[in-house]
This record gives sequence, structure tokens and C-alpha cells, in this order.
Amino acid sequence: MSVQNQLKMHDISIQFSGFSALSHVNFALIGGTTHALTGANGAGKSTLMAVLAGTHGHYQGQISINNQHIAVTTPRQARQHGVHLVQQEVDVALVPGLSVAENIMLDQLAEAGFYHSWSKIRQQAHDALSQLGVTLNVEQSVDRCSLAEKQHILLARALTHECRFLILDEPTAPLDQHESERLFDVVRHLKTRGIGIVFISHRLNEIRDICDHVTILRDGKLIDSGRMADFTDALIVEKMLGHRIEDIYPPRRILEKADPLLQIAGLHDDQLLHDISFTLHRGEILGFAGLAGAGKTELCKALFGAASSRVQSAYLNGQRWHPHSPADSVRNGIALIPEERRKEGIFIEESITTNLSVVDDRDFSAFGIFNFRAAREWAQTLMQRLKVKATHSEQSLHHLSGGNQQKVAIGKWLKGQSDVVILDEPTKGVDIRTKADLFRLIENLAHEGKGIIYASGDFSELVGLCHRICILFDGRIVAEISGNDAKEELLLLYSTGGTPA
Ligand SMILES: Nc1ncnc2c1ncn2[C@@H]1O[C@H](COP(=O)(O)OP(=O)(O)OP(=O)(O)O)[C@@H](O)[C@H]1O
Ligand SMILES: [Mg+2]
Repeated sequence: MSVQNQLKMHDISIQFSGFSALSHVNFALIGGTTHALTGANGAGKSTLMAVLAGTHGHYQGQISINNQHIAVTTPRQARQHGVHLVQQEVDVALVPGLSVAENIMLDQLAEAGFYHSWSKIRQQAHDALSQLGVTLNVEQSVDRCSLAEKQHILLARALTHECRFLILDEPTAPLDQHESERLFDVVRHLKTRGIGIVFISHRLNEIRDICDHVTILRDGKLIDSGRMADFTDALIVEKMLGHRIEDIYPPRRILEKADPLLQIAGLHDDQLLHDISFTLHRGEILGFAGLAGAGKTELCKALFGAASSRVQSAYLNGQRWHPHSPADSVRNGIALIPEERRKEGIFIEESITTNLSVVDDRDFSAFGIFNFRAAREWAQTLMQRLKVKATHSEQSLHHLSGGNQQKVAIGKWLKGQSDVVILDEPTKGVDIRTKADLFRLIENLAHEGKGIIYASGDFSELVGLCHRICILFDGRIVAEISGNDAKEELLLLYSTGGTPA
């Protein structure tokens, strides 16, 4: 029986250009246990774990392992103490163009004096993956991997070292229900090996499933910490937000006269989508449910003209139309809020104002001159409406927390005159308060007469929000259920290829 390692962070504070992101936070992690770290967007979760992983050398406070004080000011030092981080945005930690094996063995390859034997590298990468119960061609390029696979690569990378403490920053945000279950099995297995695991997530049911302890942060401060069993969901939410929250879904509005807005018949693409037909009405929130790989993202992109497709017939506002190109879609009043926001939805180095005004800069330009003041005012209004946590509207997105970047990605489409708004997994990584705000915004857009397409793998959201839900399985619509009759279990059944008995 191995000894239980104990990690302690004591009185941790950190500032960024005068902004205090953490103040006097304590945190303890015991080997062989799972510890949930939760809090609203921008609460400081990622920052606290980045300190532990050696990314921010300029913190104040102490870190100790087994009561021995340790210096952690570089990622390398953290790794030497057995601390490994799987980041929130997996792409940032991977090197595009390199193979799966090279990405898994990246730290070793970067060490001076490491003897490169390619067959050994491939073997070690393969072994690390099999510890996770994953089979993946280690010679293929990482660019071809799905998000779930990329996450396995980062987990495998941690396992190629002597890993004592593992931090998973929102690991399930890009995963569907099945993939998440598999990850939980891996986490449970690593726990039995004596590894202490920090699990960051906004989904309370998940952290309840797999975590022994919970710590709640708010505005960079420690609010509470204790045994998971001693906290109800309502109590956690209250501690996260500082107040209670009632229903997160707006009341379901009855669709009165439903004018067709977008009619699609027989849409196909070359890979996955097959004979997709549906009608979206004005004022309607139409859900598309499905697991990863079912075709939700492909459908959203095809409808927006960002991926090629063929349709037998399509009408937009009663006019013949077919998806053609994103520019054409935007001109015709269709907006897409894409899933992989960091790659497609935002300009990470640009300011919040630029990001929010870039969609429709006609609104901010007259005679070829860009009106910064109008753009900034609009950005500030939106930041208030979505409660974007930032020091000011000129801050670059780079330093915003993950959830706050997502709010900007969504916000930038709310100004446009689009009739059809397509949202692909918009609530990934956003906290419960923001979710409630977003649902209200979406409901308002629908109420104004827009049509909303809402694609999600989170079935409780679809049930709470949508008038109608189409279920995708293997690129086809296999069922359509009215929002009133929808139940999560039924959506799960259809989306795994089943049918009710
Ligand atoms: N390098 C940085 N420069 C400036 N501000 C930063 C930096 N890193 C973090 N912050 C700020 O610190 C605060 C905490 O951010 P952090 O990413 O830790 O939040 P989080 O709890 O992980 O939120 P989310 O749930 O959205 O991921 C945010 O207001 C963020 O903008
Ligand atoms: Mg974060």
C-alpha cells in the first residue's frame, strides 16, 4: 500500500496588472482522492491550478507536498514534483502537425540528452494510451484527432511521467455523455493508483458522481471546502454565486401562429448527413440532439454554408435559397455560433470591442470610417447584458477566462439582423448563472420572431428550452419530439440508436 501523498496550497494570491485574480486561497489535495474545484466563470479556478502547474511564477503563498515546502515557478518544476495539468483548451497544449506519439512524448523530446529512438517513442506513447484503455494510431497526425482523442493524448502525456497529482480543467466540456462516462472510468482507475485528481467542471451532476471533496471559489476567494456529501447542489450554486437561483429556463412560450422561416428538404453531404428535412418556424427554438459524431456540428455548418452539402429544396423566408457560403448566409440573415470557439468563433488576440463589432461592421462604419466610439458603447452594453468579466472593453480575449471568451463568441452575433440563429453547443464551459442569462437571451430572440436552431449534447438543456427536438443518429434525423413530451431518457435512447419498446 503506497503512502497517501498530500499536497497543500497555502495563502495563495496573484495579481495581473493590478487586478487581483486570487487572494489568500487555501487548497488541499490528497492522493487517491478526487477533488472538485468549482465556481462561476472568472472565479479563478484555472488560475489557481495554473499556479500549481508552474505557469505563473509570480504568485504569493506557499505550496507543500507531504509537509515539505516546494518551489513551483516553472511547469518543469511542477512536473518534477509529479504535478500535471490537462488544460481547459486542449489545442493550446498540442503541437499541430506532429504525430500523436510525438505529442504524447513532447516533454521527453524537449529534454536535452533524451535519446530519440522512434520505435521506443511510439511504444511508450502506445503504452501510455493503453493505460487509459484507449487505442489510437500513434503515427497519425494530431490534427486529425477529435477533441476526445486530443484529451486522451494529454492524459497519456501526464502518464508518461511519474504522475502524483493530476489536474483536469473542464475535461468534459468538449465530450458527449458517453465519452464523459469513459473519462470517469479512467479517473476512477487513476484514483485507485493513488493519484490525487482535481476536477474542474460546471456540471454538478458530474462532480457529484466522481468527486470526494469540493472547493468553491468566488471572485478569486475561497468560499468553502469540504466533503462532497455535505453539500447539496443548491448549496454549491448558492456559494458559487452568492445568491440562490430559481429556475434556469425561461417559461415555455406557446407558439401561436407559426410561419415557416427555413424549410429544408433532403439535405445530404458527402460524409455523414443523410436526407435531413425539417422546418424551422418564426419564434421557434428547434433543438438538435445527438452524441458526438451524430452530425450536429456538420449540420450546423452545412446550413450556414460553411461545409458543402446538397439539398433537394430549401426555402428561406418563402424564397428559394440554398446554403452556399458563410458570406452569403450572413447576407441572407443566417448566423452561426460555432462549437470550436477558439478556432472559429473569436479573434483571440483582439480586444472585446473588436470581436463584438466584427460581424457587422457596416453598423459601425460610415464613409469607410470605423466608428470606434459606437463600437465600444455597443461592446459595453453587451458586456453588461452577458456579464462578461473583464477589466475593460479593450482587453484582449487572450486573458479572459474560458467561459467569458464563450460569452463574447455568442455576443458578437446578437447585434446582427439575422433571422435564423444557429447555436452549436453554446453553453459549453459557461457557468449556471450565465446559462440562465443566455437562455433568456435566446428566448428573447425567438420571441422577437427569429428562428433558433439549438444543437446540443446536453439533453436536459434541450428539454428545458426547446419547442421541438430532432434527434440525430449517424447523420440522420431518427425522431422528432415536441418539447412538452421530451424527456432526457428518451433523447438518450434515440441518440444511441434505440427505439422505445
Ligand atoms: N494572464 C492573465 N492576465 C490578466 N488577467 C487574467 C490572466 N489570467 C487570468 N486572468 C483573470 O483572472 C480571472 C480568473 O480567471 P480564470 O481563468 O482563473 O477563471 P475560471 O474560474 O477558470 O473561469 P472559467 O469557468 O470561465 O474557465 C479572470 O477575470 C481572468 O480574466
Ligand atoms: Mg477556467
